[in-house]
Amino acid sequence: MDSRKTVSPARSTVSLSGEARQTIDMLIHSSAQLLTLAGGPQRGNTLGNLGLLPGGAVAIHMGKIVETGPSTELLTRYTAAVQIDASGRVVMPGFVDPHTHFVWVGDRAQEFERRLAGASYLEILAAGGGIMSTVRQTRAAGTPMIVDESRPRMLRMLRHGTTTAEVKTGYGLELDTELRMLEAILILAEDEGPTLVPTFLGAHAVPAEFSGRSDAYTDLVFQEMLPRVKEWWIEQAASRPLPFVDVFCEEGAFNLDQSRRSLERAAELGFPLKIHADEFAGLGGTRLAVELGAVSADHLVHTPAEDIAALGGSNTVAVALPATPFGLGESAYTPGRQILEAGGTLALASDLNPGTAWCESMQFIIALACRSMRLTPAEAIAAATVNAAAAVGLSDQVGSLEAGKAADLIVLDASDYHHLGYRFGTNLVSLVVKGGRQVSVAGG
Ligand code: NIG
Ligand code: FE
Repeated sequence: MDSRKTVSPARSTVSLSGEARQTIDMLIHSSAQLLTLAGGPQRGNTLGNLGLLPGGAVAIHMGKIVETGPSTELLTRYTAAVQIDASGRVVMPGFVDPHTHFVWVGDRAQEFERRLAGASYLEILAAGGGIMSTVRQTRAAGTPMIVDESRPRMLRMLRHGTTTAEVKTGYGLELDTELRMLEAILILAEDEGPTLVPTFLGAHAVPAEFSGRSDAYTDLVFQEMLPRVKEWWIEQAASRPLPFVDVFCEEGAFNLDQSRRSLERAAELGFPLKIHADEFAGLGGTRLAVELGAVSADHLVHTPAEDIAALGGSNTVAVALPATPFGLGESAYTPGRQILEAGGTLALASDLNPGTAWCESMQFIIALACRSMRLTPAEAIAAATVNAAAAVGLSDQVGSLEAGKAADLIVLDASDYHHLGYRFGTNLVSLVVKGGRQVSVAGG
């Protein structure tokens, strides 16, 4: 990854008129609307500040943003190797997708039909299907197969405008496969795809061999696997920060006490924390996340009012995943407006996974969030960029177009940002720039 390179000073030349002009790698100019999202995470009802500059331009050099401003000014100050005329188009930061499970093997198309016929997600899981079915297929695969099956999803995310994505393990549920998943993530992170933010989710489900012994499995994950994961990480990826540790706090998965023990142990070992909380039942996972200083608490569909209040007074980012109830055909969604009223920092994510939400498009997530959570397009865009960056601890690097941040941005085939949210089901992204380089968006 090149996201930590510093910006080297652009060369200066003198134009015929005598003004000093800097030579840079790329200038995107004459946009209909430039959305900078500058100014950091947007808490509570401040959500939706797009930093909109009509006719704005972005100067890019060495993979970083040098400056944003009016095109008239930037065109006179910079000479760029690549100039992109964004007339009639919106230019904005690439999406940050702060919750995905995009690394897996196989599919669960048959399960989808069973759910349509009335079986619930947790019933299918309890009967050894659901997550366990993906676990069986992933356990049977070597690292190259895991990489090969996951890469097309990663590149589809990129073509739909996602330039940073969190990605979880959790389809191994035993050390070897969990490490193969981490290895696959590190291999994929070297591709020219989105920046990947890894998360260890050994506590995603209780595997069949521990059926009825969920305490024993919890202990295995956090007393034995986690220290091994840390050692392995330091050997394999010493230059990268430790992955997040996440736990599925849910009926039929891990109860509040098990989740607490798990996350406390992870914190002791120095891992940053996340949690899956209140997807189907409100067990207190959100309050636990706040108490332990987790970076994010995710799902939050059945979150009790007092937990929403606690979240509102904390720095834990609330990550809503509207594709999950949509994918399950359920009617309850994250109470986004209540979270905002309480002062919470709200982000959006896809939850891309083979069971509940096979969706690579943050554009579709924005469209869903507008309808199901009553967000305005501006609020949903901020939740999918600058606030999503906070949900993966990368506020200083991605999520907005500000000098010094990664040159990760997208150009929409639309002249007004409201088209995000308003339109859905087609890809509005006509150009992706990742780390200062243009990515082909052909291929759907
Ligand atoms: O976030 N809830 C747990 N994990 C995923 C689903 C994973 C799966 O079904 O494979 C989720 O919805
Ligand atoms: Fe999830």
